Amino acid sequence: MASRSFQDTSVIHCGDNLTILSQLPSDSVDVIYLDPPFFSNRHYEVIWGDEAEVRSFKDRWQGGVYNYVDWMRERIREMYRVLKPTGTFFLHCDWHASHYLKVMLDNDIFGETYFRNEIVWSYKRWTSSKRTLSRLHDTILFYSKGKTYFLEIPTVANTNPNPSQYVSAKDDTGRTVVARDDAGRPIKRSMSERIQLGDVWEIPLMSPVSKDRLGYPTQKPPALMERILTMASKPGDIVLDPFAGCGTTLTVAQKLRRRWIGIDISPTACEVMRRQLSMLGADVKVEGLPQNVAQLHALEPFEFQNWVINRVNGTHSTRKTGDMGIDGFSWLVHEPIQVKQSERVGRETVDKFETAVERNYASMAPDTKGKLRKGYIIAFSFGRGSHEEVARARLEKNVDIELVTVQELLDRSHPLTQQAGNIFDNLAPLPPRDAATLPSVDELAQSDERAVAEDAGPYDSN
Ligand SMILES: C[S@@+](CC[C@H](N)C(=O)[O-])C[C@H]1O[C@@H](n2cnc3c(N)ncnc32)[C@H](O)[C@@H]1O
Repeated sequence: MASRSFQDTSVIHCGDNLTILSQLPSDSVDVIYLDPPFFSNRHYEVIWGDEAEVRSFKDRWQGGVYNYVDWMRERIREMYRVLKPTGTFFLHCDWHASHYLKVMLDNDIFGETYFRNEIVWSYKRWTSSKRTLSRLHDTILFYSKGKTYFLEIPTVANTNPNPSQYVSAKDDTGRTVVARDDAGRPIKRSMSERIQLGDVWEIPLMSPVSKDRLGYPTQKPPALMERILTMASKPGDIVLDPFAGCGTTLTVAQKLRRRWIGIDISPTACEVMRRQLSMLGADVKVEGLPQNVAQLHALEPFEFQNWVINRVNGTHSTRKTGDMGIDGFSWLVHEPIQVKQSERVGRETVDKFETAVERNYASMAPDTKGKLRKGYIIAFSFGRGSHEEVARARLEKNVDIELVTVQELLDRSHPLTQQAGNIFDNLAPLPPRDAATLPSVDELAQSDERAVAEDAGPYDSN
């Protein structure tokens, strides 16, 4: 297998950023923007619903805010190392930990001399708390690595009401009067006057109907990233986002002709970004995603399920995993899919899935009974009993269950992966899982321990 290149740009690295950052070359990046998961007091903070993200979530949480700061410190040390001596650094945080992080950055990483601004990103939204004032801003801590750095501060329209319509001047006695031109006419102030951008930025949250909105709750508005990147970088500069999420920084960098590198621990996030950037025409490489059966075996169950559903460009079931035995639906035609991270899937699994398929079609249209109803089980391998059961279901129940191996998905040789004529790479990113179907942190932790070879039954012969 070709080794990963840590020198390249247009690369999304899938993995813990601590490990990835430690392999990036020193002094190589112009701008770092990071929007890490906040140290927020919510019990659930799962965005992608895969275990890699949740393990990371648990690491950050155990031990309270100082543990969170330690977790961030070791990563930011690496970011500092990879930043060019002329590079700049933007850390996006909210009120929970911004003050702890500022002290850490001043004392342990950049030094307070290199602190440049506390940018307040102010936005409007409806909040209903009666015991606190509405929280209507995030904080972005801006540092430079050295004394010399690139910053082109934009001007913005002066939206403050003008205190006077006329320009003022002093007369011979020192009194303030209205200034006049040579013809004695009062000089009017220009209302379109532009002023230098300050440190409070009013940028709306992403509108629910924005064409850029992918539906992930932590997605940041492209306008915010545009402002940071146009101000702090030039075309061709290298931008790094080590907590890249659904890729707002990277897509804005691509549009502004900056080079970019993204890192995210979640394979699902990496897949969403790959599609976003491919749609913009970028020649994207994703490093660190599972490439073979052994790596897919090693994935945690939810990650494996996400991988399969993404691979067929399907949609996730709107119920929690395991319910009714349907984990997702195929692209366009919406046929039910069950995902098993198992070898030698047996008769019993097919039997249960057959019932689930019947129920699924019955709930959609009661008159489908006489028609052939189709579904797929996707697993590493199937025992002989499962093939016999498939034949019986077809003959007796008019239910057509197709057994698909993971290898066929890896090779993209199965029609499920080709239904769109292999245009999946350029399809819009999949919508996020419905919040109600996301597993809780506890459920994800439990699934770590779940046995995966649950289906190797007595009927199986291979
Ligand atoms: C708040 S989101 C970033 C959202 C992003 N700014 C956007 O606009 O889409 C934080 C991301 O950090 C990722 N993450 C959490 N822990 C990580 C780690 N240790 N290494 C890399 N990524 C991590 C999560 O998977 C999540 O996608």
